[in-house]
Amino acid sequence: MARSVMSSAARGRVQFQDSDAALHAWFEADSLRRETLAFAPFTTGGDAALPPVVARLDAAEIAALVAQWRAVSPPLDALFLQGVAPADALRRFGLTHWSMNNPRAASVILAAAAAMAPNDAALWLDLGSTLNACGEAADARPAFERALALDSGLARAWLGLALVANALSDFEAAERAFATALARDPQLSEAAFGLGLLCFEQRRYVEAIAHWRRAIDAGSRNALVHAGLGQALFFTGDFSDAAREMAIQINLGIGVDQKLTRRYALARFLETMIVADSDAAFAAYRAASGTDAEDEASVARTAFALLNAYGRRDAAIRLGRARLTRTRDDPIQRYLFDAAAGEKLDRAPRDYLIAHFDCFADTFDKQLVDVLGYDVPERLARLVAAAGRDLPRALDLGCGTGLAAHHLKPGRARLVGVDLSPRMLAKAAKRRAYDALVEADMIAFLAETDERFDLVFVADALIYFGALDEFFAAAARVMPEGALLAFNVETIDAAPFALLPSGRFAHEIVALREAASPWFKPLAELASVLRSEAGAPVEGMLLALERRAA
Ligand SMILES: C[S@@+](CC[C@H](N)C(=O)[O-])C[C@H]1O[C@@H](n2cnc3c(N)ncnc32)[C@H](O)[C@@H]1O
Repeated sequence: MARSVMSSAARGRVQFQDSDAALHAWFEADSLRRETLAFAPFTTGGDAALPPVVARLDAAEIAALVAQWRAVSPPLDALFLQGVAPADALRRFGLTHWSMNNPRAASVILAAAAAMAPNDAALWLDLGSTLNACGEAADARPAFERALALDSGLARAWLGLALVANALSDFEAAERAFATALARDPQLSEAAFGLGLLCFEQRRYVEAIAHWRRAIDAGSRNALVHAGLGQALFFTGDFSDAAREMAIQINLGIGVDQKLTRRYALARFLETMIVADSDAAFAAYRAASGTDAEDEASVARTAFALLNAYGRRDAAIRLGRARLTRTRDDPIQRYLFDAAAGEKLDRAPRDYLIAHFDCFADTFDKQLVDVLGYDVPERLARLVAAAGRDLPRALDLGCGTGLAAHHLKPGRARLVGVDLSPRMLAKAAKRRAYDALVEADMIAFLAETDERFDLVFVADALIYFGALDEFFAAAARVMPEGALLAFNVETIDAAPFALLPSGRFAHEIVALREAASPWFKPLAELASVLRSEAGAPVEGMLLALERRAA
């Protein structure tokens, strides 16, 4: 059945002008069903402006389909024989298929019904819903729009429109439609849930929390609403409420996996650490995680970073101090503790960088790009491209896993990558885009190399330096006049720079320009959000500087 309609769609026929005549002809030719005719006031409008999924059906095809359906379904046939209006009979037939979890067949049947009763808003709503259930968002959208043009009060049609607009990545329309659905029916928990999900996906966690709470109050039966709410609360730093919601989800026993259990246990650790000591926090963690527990060092590292990121500095320092007594030789813990405690340092230590990025290498791309929305390499490459220079020899300092490579390599004679972390370099090597990859500290490399570069590119790596004078001098050594230096920094008002609890440095931009000025002049600057952290944007600047004459 579906295939028959689809083939008609493929032919793109729009032939409703003769549909009444064709259907009547079909019924008249069938003496057994002749009596049905009296109750079959077909109103197939012949309207090419109807949504395509209906407009492309022609009357003869509908007649043939109805005949087939009646032949295989005695209940449908009985409805026709009882004189039920064909559109109503088909609607019941279609809804039966839908309730039997066959939305594809239901959508074909409802499309035929809608062709017969094109002004029945509820029918278009059902048709849109079945199409959406089959994943046919593009066809479903005009069906919902038609339903709403006929009756704008249909909250469920707004909800359907929101869902398909979301599936079609038209997020603004989706948000408007969700909100209208809720305005029409404040108890429509699916709309509140959908709006929450849309906000969550856009990292608007506070709004997501409000919508999901509303969905729960309205009796949401979404199986994962508590897990979602817990996650959003976690991302706002409300670890206690996050733990409570995740506990509800875990007690429901739905969607519980290792990831949820570990997130729940981490929330328990954090809420406990804020009010008590690390022994109590680890005890809470172990009780919550059971057999899914991670090792203590990883939990402490993650918890320490999160406490810092969410402004729980006291708890971070207490945790750091407690850990340091056990793990004096852990370079990550030591440096981050120093950073949180406000030590005066002017660059991140080499052992910290290697240990941190070696640990991070496997998950770096996923975490940065997918979770934190990081796209500095791409934007920095665009800033360079906008200069319109020919820069054949490029150097990617702190190249990491090589996220910049496919932006930098095309059209260049040579691309060299430098990084301290062997495991980040191993990932970069897999991209096969670099002519050479060098394991070295970038300043040591710049001081020693015989190569010269027209572009020195540093995405998210100068954030590990406070004082930059030495770097600028070393970079200038390998760059001829007119070569470009492109990099980004996190920005701060306090000159010249500050070490943040995250272990990264932020720079004051006037002081930075001054530090660069003996060798470089400004070419382009772009204030920019670099990524999000702890649910908040990290402000920074992308810069392109030009090498002055030596
Ligand atoms: C945040 S990652 C950025 C990686 C890559 N540029 C990107 O944008 O995806 C920072 C990288 O810089 C490297 N790095 C930091 N300081 C360095 C230094 N002094 N010398 C060489 N590499 C360094 C780290 O090992 C890490 O791979």
